[in-house]
Amino acid sequence: MSRSAKVFNTKLTQLLGIRTPVVLPPMAGAAGGKLAGQVTSAGGFGFLSASYGATPADFKQQLSFARSALQTPDSINSTAVEFPVGVGYLAWQLETPKSTVLELLPIALEHNIQAVWFAFGENLPQWIQFVRDHDRRLGNDKKTLIFVQISTVKEALVAANEWKVDCIVAQGVESGGHGAGYALPLQNLLPLVLAAMPADSPPILAAGGLANGAHLASVLTLGAAGAVFGTRFLFANDSLYSDLQRKALVSATSEMSVRSMAWDSARGTLGWPAGVDGRGLRNSTVEDFENGLAIEALQSKFQEAVKNQDIDRLIVWAGTGSIVEELHIEAIEHLETAKSLVM
Ligand SMILES: Cc1cc2nc3c(=O)[nH]c(=O)nc-3n(C[C@H](O)[C@H](O)[C@H](O)COP(=O)(O)O)c2cc1C
Repeated sequence: MSRSAKVFNTKLTQLLGIRTPVVLPPMAGAAGGKLAGQVTSAGGFGFLSASYGATPADFKQQLSFARSALQTPDSINSTAVEFPVGVGYLAWQLETPKSTVLELLPIALEHNIQAVWFAFGENLPQWIQFVRDHDRRLGNDKKTLIFVQISTVKEALVAANEWKVDCIVAQGVESGGHGAGYALPLQNLLPLVLAAMPADSPPILAAGGLANGAHLASVLTLGAAGAVFGTRFLFANDSLYSDLQRKALVSATSEMSVRSMAWDSARGTLGWPAGVDGRGLRNSTVEDFENGLAIEALQSKFQEAVKNQDIDRLIVWAGTGSIVEELHIEAIEHLETAKSLVM
């Protein structure tokens, strides 16, 4: 049997009815409906993001892009799910007064999506209950799967034992975009979370700095049920990243990826729960922030950069996985192994 004809069998592939335990996370400003549908169509599972001021009309359009991208049915999951994509919410934005994000949760549920993903909020149980109440009102056995992203063993235990979520995403400190600055590296966090879980725990996914098949294999070997690839999917044609952002990513090395509140301060998207910051490519916005530039000046330079599309000040969220570096290391490794075959 060819390698691509083989399928994986993990708690995640069983839960979602998919063949490859690869998940596209909801990435604000980066993962829209088209990419989410494409990832599911290819055998993984795609989430689109519902955040940062999207209107209900914009959001419905993203959902329809996802539906269109799903029209390659034979590769799709075995469980005959009607709409096999997920939608992710930044939970604190659901709680922000006058936020449009709150309107987007019932819309997604009415569209019968397969899963929701919640991250970064103090009141996650309230939103989990919201989804369960919706399912109960429908009363047709439909169960929207609930994914929750966590950063510590304690959070994982609460999510599994108290909230009874369907899937837990363990996010290491290497992750691109927002995350807990206090999280452990994935190689430490994942085994600790797995060891703390009961045998019948929900699937545990690994997130942070993963960029290739060797990484997927390594987290599966540790006991994860699947892997989340964020930064890696930013390179896809249908990610919502601009060409400029992609170009910056291509030439970046892992060391350029730093955690900071610089970009949120500059763009005015503050209000994250304590301890959460964002990982992206170091640039002049970070330098100015670290040198103590006044917030007004930081923001006005940022607005100027938006006008001029100055990537040295704009945001390029990115984890520690660098594509060029990965290829470099992999190629050297294979060439060295090949060399040793000849005496
Ligand atoms: C551009 C970008 C936007 C992100 N937006 C979100 C988001 O809206 N909600 C969320 O839960 N996680 C978000 N994340 C984090 C991802 O869920 C995931 O944990 C992370 O991408 C994994 O690390 P990696 O980028 O190194 O693969 C984002 C990540 C990136 C790169």
